Amino acid sequence: MGFLYSQFFITPPYPKGNFSGKTVVITGSNVGLGKEAARHYARLGASRLVLAVRSIEKGNEAKQDIMSTTNHKDTQVWKLDMSDYNSVKAFAKRAESELDRIDIFIANAGVARSEYQVQNGHEQCIDVNVISTILLMANMMPKMSETAARFNTRPTFSVTGSSTYAHTTFPQRSAPDGGILTALSDPDTCKRYWDQQYPVSKLIQLLLVRQIADQHPASEFPVTINIANPGLCWSELGREATGWGFYLVRLVLARSTEVGSRTVFHGGASGAETHGKYLNDCKIEEPTAPVTGAAGKEGQERISAEVLRAIDAIQPGVSKNFLIK
Ligand SMILES: NC(=O)c1ccc[n+]([C@@H]2O[C@H](COP(=O)([O-])OP(=O)(O)OC[C@H]3O[C@@H](n4cnc5c(N)ncnc54)[C@H](OP(=O)(O)O)[C@@H]3O)[C@@H](O)[C@H]2O)c1
Repeated sequence: MGFLYSQFFITPPYPKGNFSGKTVVITGSNVGLGKEAARHYARLGASRLVLAVRSIEKGNEAKQDIMSTTNHKDTQVWKLDMSDYNSVKAFAKRAESELDRIDIFIANAGVARSEYQVQNGHEQCIDVNVISTILLMANMMPKMSETAARFNTRPTFSVTGSSTYAHTTFPQRSAPDGGILTALSDPDTCKRYWDQQYPVSKLIQLLLVRQIADQHPASEFPVTINIANPGLCWSELGREATGWGFYLVRLVLARSTEVGSRTVFHGGASGAETHGKYLNDCKIEEPTAPVTGAAGKEGQERISAEVLRAIDAIQPGVSKNFLIK
């Protein structure tokens, strides 16, 4: 009911504010929600805007569009391919050396696949939405904490999540200790629970955000980390969907891309009170099952430990970037 109420009756507020002096980075910003969120920051005077995209050509088209509609002066297009861990690491290195500050980082790039595909040893939704996203988050922490100290400010790292997190029972959490990630990419398990694959990737994003904040509360951590749900929106996310069903559901229920992007904007523009929080309709909302209760907490701790081990296997020691004060 909450979902239908939001889609029919709630319009997220039109973004306001002054982002002069701020550097904003948004991944997956060549199209969809990321591009419209970037346009809001450009309109509101962000000093520097980085569109982090896997296709420079598509990124340049978005840049032209954003600059011509907002008169923005410093929109840059940087390469970031979330299916390539080396690209994630190279992006972070470049940000470290070329940006003097990062005030807002929105990890928005994501996929919803209609078919099982493996990349880097993981099913693709899990690889892009979870492993690469958390690898990227860990890699951005040093620059963002340096920004906090140097400019006496509190940067925000916001993940674009989804209310579909509640559309999975997280069946893979019954896997033996250390085996959840394996179960999430196991072909038979994926086949059995395929309709839960995208939701489970969004659930794990939420669990990681909560776990990091549980371990590093806002009072001890210089960067706000939150997760924002845009609701069902028109975008290219369902590009692989076939048939009329999804099209009709969107026709009746979906927010426009611009309206949905207001929530993505809001996540990035929010402060310490949102650390570790799930944002719905631009407000903090307590998540429901399968996040809550003892089982939710146990699942959160187990999958978080596995994901942090996975990113350390890609880049030894990178999870220690969350130990900053
Ligand atoms: N639309 C909705 O109803 C909805 C609802 C809840 C949550 N979300 C979330 O919102 C976020 C944005 O999605 P959207 O709806 O705006 O969909 P979209 O139009 O498909 O945009 C997704 C963006 O992610 C990028 N991306 C995908 N794989 C990538 C990779 N390997 N490396 C780098 N970039 C990659 C895409 O780049 P390319 O154009 O090059 O593929 C695109 O820029 C996603 O995280 C999605 O899960 C969307």
